Amino acid sequence: MPARKPSIGGNWKMNLDTAGVKALTGDLLKVLDTSIADTVDVTVFPPFPYLAPVAGALCDAGSQLQVGAQDAWATPNGAFTGEVSLSMLKDVGVSTVLVGHSERRHVIGESDELVNEKLLAALDAGFEVVLAIGEKLEQRESGKTNLVNIGQTCLGLAGTTAQQMAKVTLAYEPVWAIGTGKTATPQDAQDAHLAIRQAVGSLHGEDVANALRIQYGGSMKPGNAADLLAQPDIDGGLIGGAALSADDFAAIVRAAS
Ligand code: 13P
Repeated sequence: MPARKPSIGGNWKMNLDTAGVKALTGDLLKVLDTSIADTVDVTVFPPFPYLAPVAGALCDAGSQLQVGAQDAWATPNGAFTGEVSLSMLKDVGVSTVLVGHSERRHVIGESDELVNEKLLAALDAGFEVVLAIGEKLEQRESGKTNLVNIGQTCLGLAGTTAQQMAKVTLAYEPVWAIGTGKTATPQDAQDAHLAIRQAVGSLHGEDVANALRIQYGGSMKPGNAADLLAQPDIDGGLIGGAALSADDFAAIVRAAS
């Protein structure tokens, strides 16, 4: 099995302001040793208005930290009021696009088809893409965890080529664990990750599945990161709350390294 380089994302969601973004970016540059990029891929996902300043600050500092967007619209520039295009994101230094976050799916109402459209467009435009998937509490309680995750994986990845999969990371984020302080047990998370990897194997073959990185997201903190990351199919994390503290985020990155 090929070794998979761990991958950690910090999803800042709809938080912070200019001063807060500046402080957090500066703190990250202080606490994250630049050599960390040799062992872990680290991406931060600021809100849209702060993408350019964060990308600029990281670039000025010579940092290897990548900048990701929390979402993107799939079509080229034009009459899409309120949306942000992939070419705009590229223009301001974004390398990665997150699609299908549960808050986009369940609060905003995005469908698997729209998520897939965004993923394909972002891959076509040359971005790294993180596809987030995950079951809701009632789906887990009714024994549908794997069904939901495999469905979201296959619909989200529809139309991708095996070659494009080198630019895709999956993020398994059980909805009931996001921002709640409840974390999947390492074994429950491992079971879900294995089922997701097997689904990718049936789509694209074993080599692609074995090379795919699958992050865990849902109340990952410095205190539980090591146990989760020790699981064979957990290759990193997508961090929400703890990504707003440079020290906590750095502790998780170090746990992955
Ligand atoms: P929390 O780490 O706050 O649970 O958020 C996880 C998440 O949604 C990351 O995208």
